[in-house]
Amino acid sequence: MIAPSILSADFARLSDEMAAVGGPGRGADWLHVDVMDAHFVPNLTLGLPVVESLLRSTETPLDCHLMIDSPDRWAPGYAEAGAHNVTVHAEAAEDPVALAKNLRAAGANAGLSVKPDTPLENYTDVLKHYDTLLVMSVEPGFGGQKFIARVLDKVRAARRMVDTGHLNLLVEIDGGINGDTIEQAAEAGVDCFVAGSAVYGAEDPARAVEALRSRALD
Ligand code: DX5
Ligand code: ZN
Repeated sequence: MIAPSILSADFARLSDEMAAVGGPGRGADWLHVDVMDAHFVPNLTLGLPVVESLLRSTETPLDCHLMIDSPDRWAPGYAEAGAHNVTVHAEAAEDPVALAKNLRAAGANAGLSVKPDTPLENYTDVLKHYDTLLVMSVEPGFGGQKFIARVLDKVRAARRMVDTGHLNLLVEIDGGINGDTIEQAAEAGVDCFVAGSAVYGAEDPARAVEALRSRALD
């Protein structure tokens, strides 16, 4: 699956930018929405009121990536609003199991994200309660950064746990995904690829989505 990140889109034209990759006949499976609070990460983007408007403007499921402090308090609101996936950071969650249950009870898939240097082993039991594992392949906060290939070890470990039945979740990767890195990530076992600058920096974002998909399937 391909999830274009609207972080690299024109924020004054979000509705059109979403339609450019996610309208009828277009290729985006999910639209990835980066929520940043200038505390958990050194950048500020958008919050729940904007996500509520986005939900009214597209039929494509929203994949909300919350790079925020206190997700236990704030994340369920995104699920209640109708986000398809609500992903919180393992480093920020106080009680990730209770939080996953709250997100699911509010009707969303629960996602857990880990920064490049956060080991997966600490969260193996917690992940049983989640639907998605989002492996960060850049330090969260900004689009357009270079892919950190060593996180693929975590992808392989997660893939093994899924394939052996120890976990039941989708493995997603976020950061520095382009036509080259997507092949490495696909080979390591990623199910869903987030791409910001590789999609919205392209002349034709819809074609960029399809080009990424075919590289992932190579
Ligand atoms: C970074 C965000 C990413 C970002 C990826 O903190 O979580 O979703 O949009 O952008 P690219 O694909 O340009 O690395
Ligand atoms: Zn993201």
